[in-house]
Amino acid sequence: MQKKYLIANWKMNLSLNEAEKLSQAIGAHAAQISNANLITILCPSFPWLYSVQQSIASYSPWLSLGAQDCSAYKNGAYTGEVCAQMIAEVGCKYVIVGHSERRILNHESSNLLIQKLEQAYINQLTPIYCIGETMGQKSIQEEILTRQIKDIPVSLLSQAIIAYEPVWAIGTGVTPEAPMIDVTLNLINDILTKHKVTSLPPLLYGGSVNSQNIEKFSTSTISAGFLVGGSSLQAEAFSALMTFMAKVNI
Ligand code: PGA
Repeated sequence: MQKKYLIANWKMNLSLNEAEKLSQAIGAHAAQISNANLITILCPSFPWLYSVQQSIASYSPWLSLGAQDCSAYKNGAYTGEVCAQMIAEVGCKYVIVGHSERRILNHESSNLLIQKLEQAYINQLTPIYCIGETMGQKSIQEEILTRQIKDIPVSLLSQAIIAYEPVWAIGTGVTPEAPMIDVTLNLINDILTKHKVTSLPPLLYGGSVNSQNIEKFSTSTISAGFLVGGSSLQAEAFSALMTFMAKVNI
């Protein structure tokens, strides 16, 4: 059966105490639903990674740890950077690369993202590579997605997870209609195939996913799960998503 992914992107939120409590609550829920096909990944901010890793250690069959970013550099004199090796050493299996907030606010270019993806693989981290158009780019969506994919060498995409996150849907409560998500994920598969990515990566949707709308998005025949921001910050809301994902065969 196809693996399903539910990824919690906590962004720059939660105190240490809140992060620990939330991870324990999510861990306990993961153990309760105990679905081996559902891979739930928690992505706290860097300083909380170690504590969250400790909090979820006993739930390791069901919960994994991910980072929200990694440095493009291996190590050395890069004040403030956190390298992929450190992220792997603290227990992460995944790392988000190319989130639109970083592409936009930190002006991250494709060349930089290539270096980050390389660092991720060198350190056995699975990258969650984010792509998506802004509101102003809606009419040239295909061009944008093609560029975000074709800028990246095939070898760096074939073992990644790809998250389609329309920038205009992130944190806004506005989402594409469910059939449009399918259309776009199919388009992404076509672009990947034309780019000669032979083993197609799992495709996720992200952008204002919550317990009210997850059901309609789960009718997708092509999506392998979701990248969730706001609704991953509370145990009850995120547990509802987990319960739903454990039930449906998306
Ligand atoms: P959101 O964020 O669920 O709050 O829209 C998703 C994301 O940015 O990954």
